[in-house]
Amino acid sequence: MKILFISSEVAPFSKSGGLGDVAGALPAALAALGHDVKVVTPRYRDVKDAGRLSPTGQVLHLRFPFGEVGGPILSVRVAERLEVLFLENEFFFGNRNGLYGDAWGEFGDNARRFAYLSVGALQAAQRLGFVPDIVHANDWQTGLAPLALRRGFQATQLADAKSVFTIHNLAYQGHFNKAVMEDLGLPWDLFTADEGLEFHDSVNFMKAGLVFADALTTVSPTYAREIQTPEQGYGLDGLLRHRAHRLHGILNGIDVHEWNPATDPHLPARYGPRELGGKSVCKRVLLEHFGLPPGDAPVFAIVSRLAWQKGTDLLLEVLPTALQADIRFVGVGSGEPELEDGLRALQARYPKQVGVHVGFDARLSHLVEAGADFFLMPSRYEPCGLNQMYSLRYGTVPIVRATGGLVDTVEGGLGGNGLVFEAFHRAALLAAFRRALALYADPPRLVDFQRRGMDKDFSWDVSARRYEAVYTALHAE
Ligand code: ADP
Ligand code: GLC
Repeated sequence: MKILFISSEVAPFSKSGGLGDVAGALPAALAALGHDVKVVTPRYRDVKDAGRLSPTGQVLHLRFPFGEVGGPILSVRVAERLEVLFLENEFFFGNRNGLYGDAWGEFGDNARRFAYLSVGALQAAQRLGFVPDIVHANDWQTGLAPLALRRGFQATQLADAKSVFTIHNLAYQGHFNKAVMEDLGLPWDLFTADEGLEFHDSVNFMKAGLVFADALTTVSPTYAREIQTPEQGYGLDGLLRHRAHRLHGILNGIDVHEWNPATDPHLPARYGPRELGGKSVCKRVLLEHFGLPPGDAPVFAIVSRLAWQKGTDLLLEVLPTALQADIRFVGVGSGEPELEDGLRALQARYPKQVGVHVGFDARLSHLVEAGADFFLMPSRYEPCGLNQMYSLRYGTVPIVRATGGLVDTVEGGLGGNGLVFEAFHRAALLAAFRRALALYADPPRLVDFQRRGMDKDFSWDVSARRYEAVYTALHAE
């Protein structure tokens, strides 16, 4: 099959979170199954490996009521059957200091920027003579692609393509003032509450994807159920229940080449489930990196967007108590300013026990995964989550709240591979810390936990076959 995959971020070129990881790895797994895949994404200013991008010779030119917009299509061939296409536009992508916003907040023209990505991706395929069987869009930034395909918006002609829309995070929906209907030239008959883009008198890009895609997927089976409830549906649960027969929960995989403690070039020492020795070298270097005294105390860690979703606030509430025990805590993250300040304050108060890096650092995230003993994910909700899988693979016992994809990947209980707690509450999280300390005090049991995690297969292969089955079923209709 020919698959056009559209994503606002694609690792290693751009990444703000797990969406980038997925858009980097799933298309590669699909290509390995024999499909022809083209991924379309913006050419941001700070795109990594920019030297690898080369011109296709094709230029896009779109006309919206707000104005004309266009630019060259660049490309990188990543594998025999996989090409990543970059839409270049200086004003929309090239001169911005961030993907979706900067220190001042979200960019005010995100509706235009991502309408350009969604429609531009379809037109780029047309330009390059690529006729997809499947258009696979991801999250609100690409929600207009299924709509454009269905409604022929902007003279899009990929008539035989079926569309798939994946929800990575239902809480971020892309809400805009209804004036964008005129601004983008969307017909007003689409502005309805039931089968249209309207959401409380504003325009909702995520909803466009949910309404117009031929199939919907989300990134874990548990999250697929949760988003159909009012508690986790963010106002779209009714629509999702209505389309439940079209909604599939497919667990994300991880890139097992990038995340492999036996070969990871970012680590000072390598290790595997049968020779864990290198892990203690990583721990020593991790402590050194943060200027913490060496020693045997257990290291707890996070690598996270600092956001309400992730429960960073609960963690900050509980840590002063947990730090009464002889433990270390290492935090790498960026996001909401109050949470960043909270981490810095913790570090200032416990300089001998706490190490903090505020910012995004891919290399350091590998060292943290390898050097920590426990990895914390006290999420309020978690569509899938990738770090708990990286942790399992690195022999770092995850401590997770029982929500979303965390339920589907971490096994609690005596013969499990992680520690799972239910209530989003300080007592429950503290009890999990207590269980972690007991586990750490019993090395043979700890090693059993580590090995069970490291032996688990989270490769993309299985999940890619599930997506393939969704695509095939659409074409059989
Ligand atoms: P989400 O997409 O909700 O942020 P995921 O667990 O799916 O959560 O994916 C997060 C990804 O982003 C992981 O690959 C994680 O290592 C990475 N990440 C998050 N914050 C940072 C950071 N500050 N530095 C480096 N990597 C980070
Ligand atoms: C979102 C979710 C995260 C998921 C990622 C990739 O950012 O918050 O749980 O792992 O998308 O699907």
